[in-house]
Amino acid sequence: MSTHKPLVFSGVQPTGNLHLGNYLGAIRNFVKLQKSYSCLYCVVDMHAITVWQEPGELRNATREVASAFIAAGVDPETHIIFNQSQVPEHAELAWIFNCVARIGWLNRMTQFKDKAGSNREKASVGLYAYPNLMAADILAYRATHVPIGEDQTQHLELARDIAQKFNTDFGVPDFFPQPEALLQPEGARIMSLKDGTKKMSKSDPSDQSRINLNDDADAIAKKIRRARTDPEPLPDTMAGLASRPEARNLIGIFAALDDKTADEVLREFAGAEFSRFKAQLTDLCVDRLGPIGAEMKRLTADPAYVEGVLARGAARARAIATPILAEVFDVVGFIRAKN
Ligand code: TYM
Repeated sequence: MSTHKPLVFSGVQPTGNLHLGNYLGAIRNFVKLQKSYSCLYCVVDMHAITVWQEPGELRNATREVASAFIAAGVDPETHIIFNQSQVPEHAELAWIFNCVARIGWLNRMTQFKDKAGSNREKASVGLYAYPNLMAADILAYRATHVPIGEDQTQHLELARDIAQKFNTDFGVPDFFPQPEALLQPEGARIMSLKDGTKKMSKSDPSDQSRINLNDDADAIAKKIRRARTDPEPLPDTMAGLASRPEARNLIGIFAALDDKTADEVLREFAGAEFSRFKAQLTDLCVDRLGPIGAEMKRLTADPAYVEGVLARGAARARAIATPILAEVFDVVGFIRAKN
């Protein structure tokens, strides 16, 4: 991996049901960024266990997310694919960040409020401190660019605040950079197929609400056919979709899959009924996702290969993080054996 290019870091949780939102909001961008950046893509298994994961399923899901990265087009030789728990520097830096971040900052995290729901007292401490670990993931490499979907922008803001406070508290002004979010113009917020006001999510109990990366053509066709819409034909500009969230979402998905703007898609379909639009959206989806799903299937059938990729990636990731952590420990005042 060239160390001259700026560094990209991003992560995906191995919690099952990778879906079109993960692909269009993040993974597709991972692939594009390989040309201009050195990239680290992490399967964040330590984040996953902030809510209960059955151990066998966690192992399968970890291999599946790594397979999805490779199947989508990330090159694990030029760039780095690894799982978080194989690089202990993430946890070490996260502890230091637990002591830098303020409780008031974490109290403002909307994702914690959503995930913990009304049962906050029973949520794990890990779920609460999760954004500190996410900051450590990025800053253990001094990564400067972070491709994410819109739902992660608040966590990234927190990572910036932590970097800034660390630099100020310890009097090391340029120690950690301010990482920047990279959002997709179309695709940063893909919504549920059943409710255009809710984001598409791995944890939605209805499988009909999302298109999974490993859905076959029939499943994709069925889900798009059943996706909620409204009785009006499609307008010719996005302004005409202001109060039609489901229609807006489907147009956004089409635009993202076809690398167009939503207005370009609407020009193509102005006045069309949903039946015609949905048929074309299905073809496009099957065309883009079919090969990825097939390759994921092939890779997940070869766990030894995928685990080899993760182990080699972890060794290369550690080679970057270890010297940075040594500097962190020194700045903080920890005594370490001298080599
Ligand atoms: P996770 O695993 O929930 O999602 C992985 C990526 O997919 C994006 N995403 C979406 N984008 C558009 N529309 C949607 N409906 C949608 N749903 C999910 C997410 O924004 C994310 O980019 N905390 C992170 C994982 C993480 C991470 C990191 C990311 C841990 N450490 C460091 C970046 C840098 C998460 O839970 O993503």
